[in-house]
Amino acid sequence: MNYDLAIIGGGPAGYTAAELAGKNGLRTVLFEKNNLGGVCLNEGCIPTKTLLYSAKVYQSAKDSAKYGVSCENVAFDLSKIIARKNKTVRKLVAGVRTKMTEAGVEAVNGNAIIQAKGEGEKAKDALSVECNGQVYTAEKLLLCTGSETVIPPIPGLKETGFWTHREALDNKEIPESLAIIGGGVIGVEFASFFNTLGSKVIVVEMLDEILPGMDKALSGFLRNELTKKGIEFHTGAKVTAVNQDKVEIEKNGEKQQIEASKILLSVGRKPVLSGFGLENLNLEIHKNGLKVNEYMQTSNPDVYACGDSTGFSLLAHTAVREAEVAVAHLLGKNEKMSYKAIPGVVYTNPEIAGVGETEETLQAKNIPYTVKQLPLTYSGRFVAENEQGNGVCKILENTDGTVQGVHIAGNPASELIVIAGIALEKGMKAEELKAIIFPHPTVGEIIKETL
Ligand code: NAI
Repeated sequence: MNYDLAIIGGGPAGYTAAELAGKNGLRTVLFEKNNLGGVCLNEGCIPTKTLLYSAKVYQSAKDSAKYGVSCENVAFDLSKIIARKNKTVRKLVAGVRTKMTEAGVEAVNGNAIIQAKGEGEKAKDALSVECNGQVYTAEKLLLCTGSETVIPPIPGLKETGFWTHREALDNKEIPESLAIIGGGVIGVEFASFFNTLGSKVIVVEMLDEILPGMDKALSGFLRNELTKKGIEFHTGAKVTAVNQDKVEIEKNGEKQQIEASKILLSVGRKPVLSGFGLENLNLEIHKNGLKVNEYMQTSNPDVYACGDSTGFSLLAHTAVREAEVAVAHLLGKNEKMSYKAIPGVVYTNPEIAGVGETEETLQAKNIPYTVKQLPLTYSGRFVAENEQGNGVCKILENTDGTVQGVHIAGNPASELIVIAGIALEKGMKAEELKAIIFPHPTVGEIIKETL
C-alpha cells in the first residue's frame, strides 16, 4: 500500500496533520497504537480539565451563599465525576475518528514500526512502515510519537505505589493526604483538584518557585492563593528518598520528612523516541527531541516531526500549529513555525496564563522593558462575578511600545490570553492593541485598562 504521507502517532499533532493532509488530497495513513487523541485527549488536557471543572462547580456550590444563593448539603460523588470525565473523553475521541473518516484518512490501530533503510535505489524503503503484519510505504513520513512521564531514580520510589497523572485521573477515592513531587503544571493542577475535594495536599518543588517558565511573580501569586486554600508548598526542596508513605526532602541542606497516604509524581515528560524503529532512520537529535527546521523537517527532509517528540514545547497547541506548518510545507506552501507567541496556561482555580516574554526572560536577554500592571478588580465584570480573591494583569512592553509579554492571574485567564497571543504574534504595539474595541463588561477589558 503506497501513501503520500504516513503519520505515526494520533495525538493533536498527528490527527491535525492527518485531517489537513487528507482534506487537501494527500493519500494519508495514520497509525495509533492506543486511542486516537493521544495523551492530550485520553489522559492529559481534556480529562484533567473535566475533573477540574467538577471541582470548580463543587467549590462554587459551597461558596454560593456569597452570591445570595443557598445550596445545602453540597456533596460530590467521585465515581460520577470520573464517569463524566470518561464520557467526555469518549465523545471527543469519537469526534477525532469521524474527522479522520471525513478527511479520507486511513486510521490504523496498531504499533507502527519504521522499516530498515535499504541501499541505493532501495533507500526509499526507509519510508516504509510495518503495522499489524502489513507494510505501508509512503513518500513522506511524519513522526508525532509524543512524550512520556519522566521517572527519576529517587531511592524507594519504584517500591512505593506512586501515581503519575494516569493513575490520578482514575482514582477510586480521594486520598486523605497527597504528596506531589514536582510543582510544575501537572503537579499544581492536580494539587488544585485534590485540595478542592478535601485532600491535604503537599507540593514539593526543587526550584525556588513553582511553575518554571511562567512569569515568576504570577507563579508566586498562584502559590499564595493556593496556600490560602490549604495547600502546603515546599519550594527549593528536593525529594531525596521515598519510603512507603514518607517522602524525604532536603531543603537548605536540612532533611525533613513528609507523610502522605499517596504520592503523585510530576517531575516532567520526555519525548518518546523508541519502540517504533526510529533507529532505522538515523535522525539528528537536539537536546532530548528530534531536531527539526522551521518547516518541521528532521535531518532527513522526507521525514517530518511535530509535537512533543521534538522536545521543544510540550504543549498540545504548539503541536497543532507545528502540524499545520508541516502539512503546508508538504503542500508546497511557505509557512514557517513561529514560537514567539505560545500561550502557557495553568488551569487551577484561579487560573494563570501568560504569553511571550516574562520579566525573567527579558532580563536574561538584557532587553529593556517597562511593566504595566493592574489588579483584576479594575474590571467591573470581574468584580460582579467575584466575591473573593483578586487577580492581576501584567503587560511587558519594550522601549518602542511593542507588547513583549502578557501575564494574567485570575479567571478566565485561559480565555483572555488568546487576545494577547494575537497581539504578540502580529507584533502589535500597545497603542494598536488599546485602539481595539473590547466588549463591555468583560474581564478582557482589563488588558485595555492595563495598557
Ligand atoms: P514540568 O516540567 O512542568 O514540571 C516539573 C517540575 O518538577 C519542575 O518544576 C521541576 O523543577 C520539578 N522537579 C523535578 N525533579 C524534582 C525533584 N526530585 N523534587 C522536587 N521537584 C522536582 O512537568 P510536569 O508538570 O510533569 O508536566 C509535563 C509536561 O506536560 C509539561 O511540559 C507541560 O507543558 C505539559 N502539561 C501542560 C499542561 C498545561 O498546559 N496546562 C497541563 C499538564 C501538563
